[in-house]
Amino acid sequence: MDKKRIRNFSIIAHIDHGKSTLADRILEMTKTVEKREMQEQLLDSMDIERERGITIKLNSVQLEYKAKDGETYTFHLIDTPGHVDFSYEVSRSLAACEGAILVVDATQGVEAQTLANVYLALDNDLEIIPVINKMDLPSADVDRTKEEIENTIGLETSDAPLISAKTGLNVEDVLEAIVAKIPYPQDADDEAPLRALIFDSYYDKYLGVVMSIRIKQGTIKVGDKIRLMAAGVEHEVTEVGVKTPKILKTEKLEAGEVGWIAASIKTIKDINVGDTITNALNPAKEPLPGYKKMKPMVYCGIYPMDTNKYQDFKEALEKIELSDSSLVYEPETSQALGFGFRCGFLGLLHMEVIQERLEREYNLALIATAPSVIYKVYLTDKTMIEIDNPAMMPDPQKVDHIEEPFVNVKIMTPKEYVGDLMNLCQQKLGVYKDLEYVDDQRMILIYDMPLAEIIFDFFNKLKSISKGYASFEYELIGYRESNLVKMDILLNGDMVDAFSMIVNKQFAYHRGAALTKKLKELIPRQNFEVPIQAAIGNKILARETIKAYRKDVIWKLHAADISRKKKLFEKQKEGKKRMKEIGSVEVPQEAFIAVLKLD
Ligand code: GTP
Repeated sequence: MDKKRIRNFSIIAHIDHGKSTLADRILEMTKTVEKREMQEQLLDSMDIERERGITIKLNSVQLEYKAKDGETYTFHLIDTPGHVDFSYEVSRSLAACEGAILVVDATQGVEAQTLANVYLALDNDLEIIPVINKMDLPSADVDRTKEEIENTIGLETSDAPLISAKTGLNVEDVLEAIVAKIPYPQDADDEAPLRALIFDSYYDKYLGVVMSIRIKQGTIKVGDKIRLMAAGVEHEVTEVGVKTPKILKTEKLEAGEVGWIAASIKTIKDINVGDTITNALNPAKEPLPGYKKMKPMVYCGIYPMDTNKYQDFKEALEKIELSDSSLVYEPETSQALGFGFRCGFLGLLHMEVIQERLEREYNLALIATAPSVIYKVYLTDKTMIEIDNPAMMPDPQKVDHIEEPFVNVKIMTPKEYVGDLMNLCQQKLGVYKDLEYVDDQRMILIYDMPLAEIIFDFFNKLKSISKGYASFEYELIGYRESNLVKMDILLNGDMVDAFSMIVNKQFAYHRGAALTKKLKELIPRQNFEVPIQAAIGNKILARETIKAYRKDVIWKLHAADISRKKKLFEKQKEGKKRMKEIGSVEVPQEAFIAVLKLD
């Protein structure tokens, strides 16, 4: 293949600015997908992605474009997610490209994640093509959007395509700009020793592990013996191909191309996204630069409702890890919930998505404990321990002080919401840093804030205060000392480790009262009275009581009313399935989720 006719690119944008819609139009206009096969947001293949309307996993597709210069070009389009939690996926796809299309919604302008994604693209030395989208909407403001792109990003916008991804208006200009501006793979030499970057992988029942790869140098074909350079293992290639987006088998993949390979690999642990594949008989000297591994920011314990499902749960985690290497987990036991895993995530949305995927794709009923960040606990004996699980907090007598992770938060907002957003940041214990103008309408608010306060419902509050207009991004800046305590919940006098949380002392009373009240609503009556208490050490902060139900409730039914009685039993049985027996008390699954949603 003539390398000069290859273009590898990603589409980057702030969430909802129209990446997936643009990708759909491109597939349609290049006739990669026939119109009748066209399903909206074709690249979003996970059910959760379609339902939530967001892209989570990157996806790649090969397409052919006949340009105005009369030549046919091969494009590899790699879709990326827009949400702040998934920037890891973005940097992975960018590492496989030479260029990026930056989609900016003309009704919204530049937003926090637009900037964050641009920085990732610049880190990877990509050519960035700004594209202004949603031109069909009356509120589209081209001048302001261009000005924002030039002021905040410094990209030239005079010939930026003005498009509507929805109607297809001017989308052809984007295709032409890709041909004209994005460089072809320069150092792609088919004869050089093989070096291919694994940028994604998933497990297929028949093929084993399927890896998405970008060939930087060399050629790969069926029958080749390959070596994964970091893992140090060797396998024989059984299939290679491209996605169009259908899975298409080919004979080989050459330098500059993006595609997939399978090598009957069943040991999932061997595959690390970011690893380099080389030929075992003619190996490359150096692997490609991998990308830096993201550190999880949020941890929680996840347990199967049914303890017999532990093994299934473990296998499901291994498979999900394959396609999402930012997920980390290790076995953990809880007195209340039995055997499970402590899992680490990049953020709260990431956590929700993984949980949902586990439940849906692997048919598991799960319970998650309250999320936690990693705390540094300095002990009186001058040692320090890191804990990501409140239950592991040492005896307060032994603790000298505790540090928690702080982040620098940048909130981009129309200026009328600045006052209310500053209040929100204050409530969240934010430390004011700066306020900058983007243009005469919009501002950037900058705060330092405990990460833990961001994972507790910050996003939802920000969106509701700003009617959806504000956006934010954050970056870890280090650890700072805070006045933190561990708060426990006691059910019928027994501490439930799964409910324990580390909170700022200022919030302890409020959260304790709110949580006991919530649990009282959610835990059904038992045949004895159940006190619910929130406590710090021996000190009780709040208490609620669930009254006992009257045992004879069923027998009061009319004796002839057997079917009704049966129904009642059935209902109780159904309810039981989603209940977890904790000590002597039955707790419904919702109770565990309630901890997360607490104010
Ligand atoms: P994520 O995948 O979640 O990051 O979002 P995205 O950037 O892929 O956005 P998506 O393509 O899902 O579009 C978001 C919403 O904007 C959808 O409801 C689209 O129908 C709509 N949309 C996208 N492009 C246009 C456009 O040109 N005009 C109009 N009117 N709506 C558009």
